[in-house]
Amino acid sequence: MAENYSVTPWEVKGKVDYDKLIVQFGTQKITDQLRRDLQSAVGELHPMLRREIFFSHRDFDIILKEWKEGRSFFLYTGRAPSLGMHIGHMIPFVFTAWLQKKFGVNVYIEITDDEKFMRNLEYSLDQTRQWALDNILDIIAAGFDPDKTFIFQDTEYIRNMYPLAIKIAKKLTFSEVKATFGLDVSSNIGIIFYPSLQIVPTMFEKRRCLIPAGIDQDPYWRLQRDIAESLGYYKAAQIHSKFLPPLTGPEGKMSSSVPESAIYLIDDHKTVERKVMKYAFSGGQPTVELQRKLGANLDVDVPYQWLYYFFEEDDQKIKRIAEEYSSGKMLTGEIKQILVEKINSFLDLHRERRERARDMVKDFKYEGRLARAMWEKIHE
Ligand code: TYM
Repeated sequence: MAENYSVTPWEVKGKVDYDKLIVQFGTQKITDQLRRDLQSAVGELHPMLRREIFFSHRDFDIILKEWKEGRSFFLYTGRAPSLGMHIGHMIPFVFTAWLQKKFGVNVYIEITDDEKFMRNLEYSLDQTRQWALDNILDIIAAGFDPDKTFIFQDTEYIRNMYPLAIKIAKKLTFSEVKATFGLDVSSNIGIIFYPSLQIVPTMFEKRRCLIPAGIDQDPYWRLQRDIAESLGYYKAAQIHSKFLPPLTGPEGKMSSSVPESAIYLIDDHKTVERKVMKYAFSGGQPTVELQRKLGANLDVDVPYQWLYYFFEEDDQKIKRIAEEYSSGKMLTGEIKQILVEKINSFLDLHRERRERARDMVKDFKYEGRLARAMWEKIHE
């Protein structure tokens, strides 16, 4: 039976059934046992793991097993730059920076200014390259280690990626790529070749690669896993997240192209308050009397979902909010106010870090330690 939702790298529609998606995509659920194994390896669990926001994986169990035996891995994630990142985009970066802190491993971050340009008729290359520079500041602000992180833009780093890219491209047929991404014969040839460029960084080291990302990126990794071993590399491991829902309702994912559905990292206090108060979809009852009597439906309430996903890390506090709001003790206006304050304090801190990041860009890009080590490896 056709599902009433769909998840692709470019679009998420409907209310996603994440358990079904695991079966559909052929990934594995992150089990209690796996969470315990991770906790025993690093001493604690990120709230996004405790709350199953990162809910699915491939080979993460192998990564942990090998780690225990003394074998390391590297992390890889990425971003197709746009005019202004929103809060949902921070999820994989905040989580990847946490993993880096816990394991002390290298992180590679691909900025696909080429992908964004080729996929959208209306964007010029100058624009996507400019957005890349801007988005990199937000990414650095997530808290990466400059000595162990390399951020690169495809249009700048291509010379070093190209030899691997063509080896990958030679292994992929048009019909596989077409079927995996739903392309057709009218697709431009750049976008047909592009998957090889998103696969390249999974082969930057001869160790296992772990990719934290939204589950929408999964089709790339399916192709990678088909061909990696034949090129002498490991199949990439992944840890997948759910999508922060749009402000306007529990379906789909927050998207830059619908401004009222998103909170941008540059939104000021007043804008955040206005958007949350005006647009945040509520699971509360239409009147105070009914809310006191019946309470809110947390499953569809966006302010609650956002606190649960990202903004309220304290388990006791989120539990209390859930109890009070679902029983009617707390009103919609109150939970929205809690969210506004949480978002604004996150954004204040983020903007401070973003300003500090301006002086660090070159250390994360081509003059950093990891970039230089890559250069030596490529040219040895
Ligand atoms: P992009 O720029 O669409 O998205 C960047 C990352 O953000 C995740 N994401 C979300 N996560 C939670 N809630 C949301 N509402 C939300 N919206 C987006 C995405 O899943 C992704 O992890 N082709 C890629 C760029 C890329 C990449 C990679 C991504 C290149 N190499 C390696 C991940 C890993 C893209 O368009 O991402």
